[in-house]
Amino acid sequence: MRLIFTSILSVATWDLCSAVQINYVKVPGAVKNDSGSPAVLDCNYSVRPDDTELVVKWLLNDEVVYQWIPPQKPQSLGLLKNRVDLSYKASDDPKSVYRAMKIWNPTTDIAGEYKCFVSTFADEDFSIKNMIVFEPEKSFVILKEEGNHYSVNFTCYANEVYPAPKLILYKDRAHEFYNKNPLQALEWNTSRHPNGRFSVFVIANALVESLAPGSLIHCELRIPGTGYVKKRSLLYYPTGSDSGSACRGCNLTVTLLLMLILPALRL
Ligand SMILES: *[C@@H]1O[C@H](CO)[C@@H](O)[C@H](O)[C@H]1NC(C)=O
Ligand SMILES: *[C@@H]1O[C@H](CO)[C@@H](O)[C@H](O)[C@H]1NC(C)=O
Ligand SMILES: *[C@@H]1O[C@H](CO)[C@@H](O)[C@H](O)[C@H]1NC(C)=O
Ligand SMILES: *[C@@H]1O[C@H](CO)[C@@H](O)[C@H](O)[C@H]1NC(C)=O
Ligand SMILES: *[C@@H]1O[C@H](CO)[C@@H](O)[C@H](O)[C@H]1NC(C)=O
Repeated sequence: MRLIFTSILSVATWDLCSAVQINYVKVPGAVKNDSGSPAVLDCNYSVRPDDTELVVKWLLNDEVVYQWIPPQKPQSLGLLKNRVDLSYKASDDPKSVYRAMKIWNPTTDIAGEYKCFVSTFADEDFSIKNMIVFEPEKSFVILKEEGNHYSVNFTCYANEVYPAPKLILYKDRAHEFYNKNPLQALEWNTSRHPNGRFSVFVIANALVESLAPGSLIHCELRIPGTGYVKKRSLLYYPTGSDSGSACRGCNLTVTLLLMLILPALRL
């Protein structure tokens, strides 16, 4: 009871003293690298009508990259110099016209923690949001390797992705497509290229007897924190079985072709 009372009291006191308050900061959580589309980072705040010496700053990983001190024009600095549309207006209110940053073409070097910092003579406030800039993969494949009649390896590769992606191999049958059955990974690795991108692979092994002919094997690629998801699938038929004889010695090209042709033949 006393705790509740104290916290109500402190909120009330804080409200009385605060002259600057950030209502919200809007930063895109994830954008594609070098996409050519701008990203708008907005900072909505309230200041008291009688407050003076308003300064609005944006910091990227603790370095000032944008500054607006009305009635001067806004300027971009450091990593964002020449990369911001300085004529972009977020509002008609003279106290917040240039509060937002419209970045022309975000690239991976300007990903990170964005802090909006607003101050006046009497008070200040800040708020922070992260922006991830990702680079989609250059290639993404799933392959099957059969060493013997008992077991089969499925390998999934994704090349040159940023930041580091996650891969999962799983199987399902056409009529059970709501169930994801992860395959046990045998081996995996992530390597980093000099350009900063990551290449990853995962190998999973399954017993031939555990795979019904016609099973679908999928590989899912995710870039954490971005909502970016891709899938590659392979229709499994054991090599040497009747249904698989057309696929003897098949490689990825043939498998993918089969995936395209088989559904059409069923009609
Ligand atoms: C992002 O794009 C820029 C411009 O094309 C490029 O120089 C940079 O290497 C890319 N970043 C990654 C991690 O690939
Ligand atoms: C800023 O936020 C306030 C309060 O949430 C809202 O009333 C106002 O419309 C917002 N202003 C703009 C320009 O989005
Ligand atoms: C399956 O992968 C494991 C681990 O990389 C490897 O030792 C084994 O030789 C592979 N088997 C086949 C049939 O490729
Ligand atoms: C795993 O990646 C590291 C570098 O990240 C590399 O040195 C190593 O050779 C890789 N291992 C395999 C089995 O590819
Ligand atoms: C797959 O088979 C085709 C045709 O037989 C061949 O041209 C291609 O090089 C093979 N690809 C791989 C990765 O072995």
